[in-house]
Order: sequence, then structure tokens, then C-alpha cells
Amino acid sequence: MSHIGSYEERIKDFSWAIAEKELDYKEGDMINIGWYCSDRICKMGKSSKLALIWEGLMGQERKLTYDDLRKTSNTVGAMLRKLGIKPEDRVCLFMDKIPELYIGLLGVLKIGAIAQPLFSAFGDESLFVRLENAGTSAIITQKKHAPKVRKILDRLPNLKHMIIVDFDPSKELQPGEVAFDLWNTPWVDELEIHPTYAESPSILHYTSGTTGQPKGVKHVHYSLISQYLTTKWVLDVQEDDIYWCTADPGWVTGTSYGIIGAFCMGATQCVMDVGFSAEAWYKFIEKHRITMWYSAPTAIRSLMKAGDEIIKKYDLSCLRHLASVGEPLNSEAVIWSERVFGKPFLDTYWQTETGSIMISNYPGMKIKPGSMGKPFPGITACVLDTKTFLPIEETGKIGLIGFKPGWPSMMRMYWNNEETYKNKFKNGWYLPGDRSSIDNEGYFWFVGRDDDVINTGGHLVSPFEVESALLENEMVAESAVVSKPDDINMEVVKAFVTLKPGFEGNKDTELMIMNFIRKKLSPLAMPQEIEFVPNLPKTRSGKIMRRILKAKEWGEEIGDTSTLEDD
Ligand code: PRX
Repeated sequence: MSHIGSYEERIKDFSWAIAEKELDYKEGDMINIGWYCSDRICKMGKSSKLALIWEGLMGQERKLTYDDLRKTSNTVGAMLRKLGIKPEDRVCLFMDKIPELYIGLLGVLKIGAIAQPLFSAFGDESLFVRLENAGTSAIITQKKHAPKVRKILDRLPNLKHMIIVDFDPSKELQPGEVAFDLWNTPWVDELEIHPTYAESPSILHYTSGTTGQPKGVKHVHYSLISQYLTTKWVLDVQEDDIYWCTADPGWVTGTSYGIIGAFCMGATQCVMDVGFSAEAWYKFIEKHRITMWYSAPTAIRSLMKAGDEIIKKYDLSCLRHLASVGEPLNSEAVIWSERVFGKPFLDTYWQTETGSIMISNYPGMKIKPGSMGKPFPGITACVLDTKTFLPIEETGKIGLIGFKPGWPSMMRMYWNNEETYKNKFKNGWYLPGDRSSIDNEGYFWFVGRDDDVINTGGHLVSPFEVESALLENEMVAESAVVSKPDDINMEVVKAFVTLKPGFEGNKDTELMIMNFIRKKLSPLAMPQEIEFVPNLPKTRSGKIMRRILKAKEWGEEIGDTSTLEDD
């Protein structure tokens, strides 16, 4: 039994007021995530407690107490204010997993501006569409990423400032550029926190859909209520925990649970800015005595592949609780983790738009390996019929997941895109766009997405975005992008391409096009395979039928092809 009470106890008489009370918040009060994650913890007498333990690519280490976190985030806030950043202006954080990213997000929130974190491996085109859509005023970045920003600056009239946290003083700043070295700047002890309230916007995260450009998911400061309680009840983070969330804050897991969750609990958070390697990960856990580990199925599958022998070299007995998110967690991974770590990875299901964990395995609850578990207390979830959008009563039948709107961390809008937002609701249910069934004990079993979005290693990639980028390559005439199965990443991107006359589809062409996408979009969006074809299957109206290409990749039935152009 968990110290936080059983699932059954918790769903009885559940109210979000439980979290409000624990956070000393009442309706109508000010609520600011930046303040809650640093100042409040200090006010509770924990100023000297370690907030962040960071390890960098070159083995560097930095440790910050909660008081350091408070002052450094004040310093970022003050610097932005001085530049003229106003409440609700969008400030992009475009950095690797360095301390300035974690501190910077809190600093942006403290002055009431909207934090827009973007994955630092994004190429210039991925960056451009997101900055343009958000009308971003300032970007905080590192010198290694600055060239990507400089390349698109001319096309971004709203982007007034580029703040470089590690600027080389021997170089010359371009107009609009600011050198800001947090470690050699006097830290600001007192900062006036902007009075944000429950519905004040906080974070803008971009997520990919099947059609159109990425959508900006707008969250508000009140999301803290959900993030706090799920961190406590599902991730089981307690004050004395040493917590490690492996996600990058360019994505929602990295902010909701890689920044906010642990800091608002006053726990110690570890961050490692090093790419994946089983040895490095186990060493990191052993060295910092990590107790709570939140990761993703692709990483777990990679660890499984690295084998059991290597685990024996490390003392991992510190691990107390493990959880996973982002893609289906196969039952083998759950069983394996129980065998090698003595604890199963608990699957959690949610998405950018939900802002916090919605369905999960709850500490102390019976685990059914392969199931996502049950809805978090306070969340009403069901599966809906795909035609009527009415809840399916029958157990085991597959339908669309539906959530009753109204939980604290639910997105408030897609930025400048009310129509797409409205389309996410049917019959009063919010549709995350996934399919599942529910068994006779109320456990949810994930089936798949209800659209063409590719989930590669837990990261969503829009086929539309990759197709659009491919068309910008001088050799490409037409393209269709689908997922193909992969042992580790579950799915990877595959492109079918027809070439313009005069170009030959060979290995060199494939590599050139792959590289083109990697640079323009990101390594995630880069097709792992390009198949050159003479033509693509299309409907009579000329729409490319990705469905047929995808079915072939997955060895599935092709289904109805009656609308094919040349069948
Ligand atoms: O399709 C579901 C899948 O990832 C999508 C959300 O992606 P994103 O907004 O990038 O957020 C990822 C991290 C919260 C979902 O719509 N997904 C997420 N968790 C799971 C999952 N699929 C299966 N099992 C999960 N546990």
C-alpha cells in the first residue's frame, strides 16, 4: 500500500481542492508557477535544500539550492523586464538541457510572460514556423544554436531580442543580440512577481498534427494544481526524493514533470545533458542515489537491448519508484524492469494538450503489464463510439478516448486557432485522438492513434510537416510520409518520393534528402528510409493515400481502395 492512500480511497470524494489547500491557494488568489517552484519552497524554510543537480556533456556539474533557483530565476526575469518584455509576450527557450533552460522558464513565468520552450535540435524551418505562429518577442539560446536564429531573423519582424547565455566576449554582437552570462552576473534577490491568476497564460508548447502547421497549446498558471497532485500521487515524489525525469523541456513531459512537478514539491531534481547510453544512465542513477525515475518506452527498450549484465556493475538499490510516458509501454518492458530493478515501470498516459497525467498505473494498484491503468482521480474518461461519439458501455470494445473537460491543466486554446481547438470536442467530450479499450476492471488498453501522426521514440512528427519540407528539395516532385515499425523507437519516419525528371533515386540521393530534412526540421523528423517510386497512390480527387503505403509497411490489410486513381 502506498503512503498516499489507495486508488479507491483517493477517487472517493475527490476534489481538486485537495491540491489547492496543500498549495495554500484559494480561488481568486494570485498563482504563479515560477514563484511556487522557487520562492514558496524557500518560504517553507528549505532555501538551502538542493533543487537542481546538473551534469553536462563534458562532465561539468552544477548544483543549485532552492535559494539559488529563486535568485537566478529572479535574475532572468529582471533581465527580460529590462529589455522591455511585457506580460503575455512570448519568450522562447531554445537551449540544450542546461541549467539556464530550467531557470529561464521560471524567470519568464515570474514576469508574467509566456514561456515557449522549443527542442534545441530543431532546424531553422521547424523553429521558424513556431516562432512566427507565436509572434515571439525574444529567444534565449546558446551560441551554438544562434546561427539557426540569425538565418530566419529577417522573416520574423516580432522577434526583437536574441539572448545568448554563453556568448563569446571576443566576438561581436549583432543588432538585437544580448550577451547574458547568468554565472557572472549579480543575482537579483528581490523581484516583483507579476500578479498572474488562475487563467493567466503560462506555457505555449507546440505539438504536431496530421494536417497543417504545428499547433501552439496554450496552458495557464492554474495547471500547477494538476501537475502538483499527479507528481505527488502518481510519480510518488516526496520531499526527500532525488528525482530524474529524462525528458527534454522542449516537450511537455520535460516541463510539466521535468521542471514544475519536482520543484513545486521541493524535491531534488537531477538533469543530465548527455545523450543516451546505458552505462552513463546507470552511473548517473548510482552516483546521485536517484529514487524516482520518470522515463520513456524507447529508452527502456534501449536499456533492455544493452542487456542485464551491465546492470550488475552498478548499485541501483536507491531506485524506489519508476514510471514511463510517451508511447505504448509493452508488457515485456514492465516485466523486465521488475526483474532487473525489482520494480515495474508504471505506464502513464497523457499529452501536450492535457498538461498532466490522465490515465496511469497508480502506486499500490494492481498492475496489468501492457495496460495504461486507470484515470487519475478527478478525471472522467471513457471510450466513445467513432460514429455517434457516445460512450461505449461494452467492455473490451475499441473506441476513441474521451475526457470530460475541466481538469486544471487542460489546454485553454490552440494559439490563433480556435477552429482546430473546437474540433477536439464531440458531444461534450475532449478527444485526445487516440484509440483504446477498457476491460471489466476499468483498465485502459491503448490501441493506437486515430490519425497519421507518427510517434517516433515518444516524439510526435507530423507527416504533413515532413512532406512540405521534402517538396522544398530541388529533386523532389511529390512525397508521402508514413510510419514504419521499428524495434526500439516503435515507429520511425519513412518517405515515399517521386523525383523530378533528371534525378536518379539512388543511395546518394537518399542521403542528400535525409540530410536536407535533418537540417531543416530535426533529426527526429528525418526519414530513416526513402523509397523512390514512379508514382504515389492517390484518390480520384488527387489526394495522396498515405493509408495504403502505411498498411504495406505494417503488413496490414489495405482495406477499401475503391477511390484509388488507377486501380
Ligand atoms: O498518442 C498518445 C501518445 O503520445 C501522444 C501525446 O504526445 P505528446 O503530446 O507529444 O505528449 C507526450 C508526453 C505526454 C498521445 O496522444 N502517448 C502518450 N503516452 C502514452 C501514449 N501512447 C501509449 N501509451 C502511453 N502511455
